[in-house]
Amino acid sequence: MSHHWEEIKEKIDSIKEKQLFRETKTYQGIDFCSNDYMGLATNARMLECYRSLTDLYPFGSTASRLVRGNYDSMNMFETEFANFVNGEAALLVANGFVANFGLIDSIAASNCYVFTDRLNHASILDGIRISGAKKKYYNHLDLQHLQTLLDKANAEDPDQKYKRIVVTESLFSMDGDSPNFPKLLTLKKQYGFVLVVDEAHALGVYGNEGKGILFRDLSLEDIQLIDYRVYTLGKSFGLEGGIIVTKQLGRDHLVNVMRPFIFSTAPLPIISKLAMFALKLLRSMESERFHLLELTRELKQSLVTNGFAITNTESHIIPLLLHSEAEAMAYGKRLQEMGLDVRAIRPPTVPTPRLRISLNAKLTREDINSLVSALVQIRKEYGSGSFS
Ligand SMILES: Cc1ncc(COP(=O)(O)O)c(C=O)c1O
Repeated sequence: MSHHWEEIKEKIDSIKEKQLFRETKTYQGIDFCSNDYMGLATNARMLECYRSLTDLYPFGSTASRLVRGNYDSMNMFETEFANFVNGEAALLVANGFVANFGLIDSIAASNCYVFTDRLNHASILDGIRISGAKKKYYNHLDLQHLQTLLDKANAEDPDQKYKRIVVTESLFSMDGDSPNFPKLLTLKKQYGFVLVVDEAHALGVYGNEGKGILFRDLSLEDIQLIDYRVYTLGKSFGLEGGIIVTKQLGRDHLVNVMRPFIFSTAPLPIISKLAMFALKLLRSMESERFHLLELTRELKQSLVTNGFAITNTESHIIPLLLHSEAEAMAYGKRLQEMGLDVRAIRPPTVPTPRLRISLNAKLTREDINSLVSALVQIRKEYGSGSFS
């Protein structure tokens, strides 16, 4: 075996020893793990819309959007989406990862401080890394800590030679919690930093018509002070794609400098057509949103009553904390055997091993009850469950 392959084998052996080995398994069982929060990936009306588009031609976009891969439907969707979230302009890109990564690389550089919540998504952290900016981690949701770091930056760089950028998720994908946005906006007004907010997991679920957590927590005036908002079509829209909402000037800048936008094939033309239909559906799904929040409340209550340790989640993403990687894997495996698709999430994705239970609007009360009964049974079987 060559040196390269020996090195790779050692890495894989070490991952396996730490119980961190991952595989691409095909799904089965009731969905307690996807990000299809409103069930649109399997929605009958979406399917009908998809079928009505089968004579859409060409299949692939054939080039980047700056060459021959741009379609009217993409521009139309961007305008509709920007209007939906009261933004000036929107840019559709391949996915949410590319949106964060490319955006941050485009607006940050070595003469910037980027302040990031410690638990921000990999796409944000990698964007900061590739930009060459100085990364400043603040403790998860700790805006007091952020303020201390901002003060320190002002002391070190009183002439503001370094641009300041703050990035946060609006709903943390692995913890289900959110920052205090009114407080964050107060800091923005006081310190004048550029603010980027990733609404990936909140779009479609929170706020009037599913506009996101910013619409739940802030005034329209304050929302418009946010320089960049990132959304994905890969979660509540049941599709794939990423959207950056900003000023027209910001969009023009990204179109001219954002490398994964410029140097990659545009999304399939059908995506923007389906996204327009999905947006129409999502806006009207108030009863589904209500149902999802009811299920969330009931599951959280039931888990706590049964002595399981969950994080301080405020949302439909409910992390059930476990003692070890091995225990998380064992719970996950057993739940799968019982027909319940819950996945173990382990380091390095999260600092502490857990089951990430994510609820969606298609689930029923019976599904929730089955999940809790299964967890109680597994705890008995293994003898050392997740006790609070
Ligand atoms: C907070 C956050 N932002 C962005 C992304 C990436 O979005 P996408 O799956 O569309 O690439 C994810 C993916 O899970 C995420 O959790």
